[in-house]
Amino acid sequence: MARRIRDILRNGQPNEQIVIQGWVRTKRESKGFTFVEVNDGSSMAGLQVLLNEDTPDYADIVKRLSTGSSIEISGLLVESPGKGQRVELQAKTAQIYGEADAETYPLQKKRHSFEFLRTIGHLRSRTNTLGAVFRVRNACARAIHEFFQERGFLWIHTPIITASDCEGAGEMFAVTNLDLGKLPMTGDNAVDYSQDFFGKPAYLTVSGQLEVESMAMAFSNVYTFGPTFRAENSNTSRHLAEFWMVEPELAFCDLEGNMELAEVFLKYLFEYVLETCPEDMTFFNKRIDNTVLATADNIINSEFERITYTDAIALLEKADRKFDYPVSWGLDLQSEHERYLAEDYFKKPVIVTDYPTEIKAFYMRLNDGGKTVRAMDVLAPKVGEIIGGAQREERLDVLERRIQEAGLEAADYWWYLDLRRYGTVPHAGFGLGFERLVQFMTGMANIRDVIPFPRTPENIEF
Ligand code: 4AD
Ligand code: MG
Repeated sequence: MARRIRDILRNGQPNEQIVIQGWVRTKRESKGFTFVEVNDGSSMAGLQVLLNEDTPDYADIVKRLSTGSSIEISGLLVESPGKGQRVELQAKTAQIYGEADAETYPLQKKRHSFEFLRTIGHLRSRTNTLGAVFRVRNACARAIHEFFQERGFLWIHTPIITASDCEGAGEMFAVTNLDLGKLPMTGDNAVDYSQDFFGKPAYLTVSGQLEVESMAMAFSNVYTFGPTFRAENSNTSRHLAEFWMVEPELAFCDLEGNMELAEVFLKYLFEYVLETCPEDMTFFNKRIDNTVLATADNIINSEFERITYTDAIALLEKADRKFDYPVSWGLDLQSEHERYLAEDYFKKPVIVTDYPTEIKAFYMRLNDGGKTVRAMDVLAPKVGEIIGGAQREERLDVLERRIQEAGLEAADYWWYLDLRRYGTVPHAGFGLGFERLVQFMTGMANIRDVIPFPRTPENIEF
């Protein structure tokens, strides 16, 4: 069986017989011998392979080999006399699986822009940067599960197709199997959803929160981690139409406990990734953003700032900075405000709490007086809002009123209200945008470059 190159680079010993499989990154031909660098995606660094005239079909193989071609090589691992690697592979046999035409293969040695790489979404993961991103992304996903599993949280698989708008923002993609060219209509000229697959309007979920709350009322501590969808037409470097979200929900918990969880959670994720992906993280620091390692250190070792929305507005009003969106109490904080607070003012993550009732979702617990709710947003330098959460409204009468005030139909939320009828408890939770986290961690400027196949307005090629 072929060995993974990451393992060989770390643990391989001279005189071991090994087989590797991968894709050629570079080829350097000399008289009588040729060096190729082979990468199998297991690490940033590839393995240097030496082919020489003793390798069967040497001339033919070297002629057909080029950047991007796939290959299997068996041979002897030896100490490398050259600089830059501890060991290299002396090929005994080489077999090409598939060639890659050097005239047309788009990933040649030069550095390509991320814009260009997005046009070859099916190939871009073979580059150093995207390779590092997706290894870090994988490590983050694993760390998320380990964090919650170690603490006894149940992983809940909440549905992708749903009838409820969790955020009440109307940014949902419809799911239907009606013939859009021949929609059945009711007498008063509305679409007759009773003839649709589910017998009523259905959507892709914007958040698993409502369902995961119901599971928290059975298992106490739970989390959901899956894809979510938003039809918001924002073409920014921080928005996707399809993104992954991690949503823990804790019964018998208030906003204080929620903030504590968010902070230890983020610290855990950064520590885990630094430990499991040191080469990739060093690469990001060198090539993408030279504050990546300092940021990680800052997350792990600093105490997050906590501030109420009202105090944050006062700070913004005093700032010696002109914002595009003028600041006053009631404003929904924009990215420029969030970044000012986290990046310029506090220079570390900031948890803003107790937002105005009008700008937050119906399910957040109303504070005394009714002007604000027990919301919390965690703002990170560079990316702005990375976590959004709240203590939930557990009082039936207040929640009913809030649903109505939000212009939603209480009848649509009957089962969610039932949770307040039967054994209600104070509870809280939050949602961490998984791509925003990976962006924050790697320093990648655009969210489209931290998800393998980004979905944004008018972009669904791959
Ligand atoms: O603040 P949001 O909308 O909160 C919720 O959905 C709650 N139901 C979560 C909860 O309490 N269980 O979204 C949570 C996070 C944001 O802080 C952001 O990081 C990310 O999801 N997010 C997006 N990421 C990428 N593209 C988008 N369009 C995003 N919208 C939100
Ligand atoms: Mg939010």
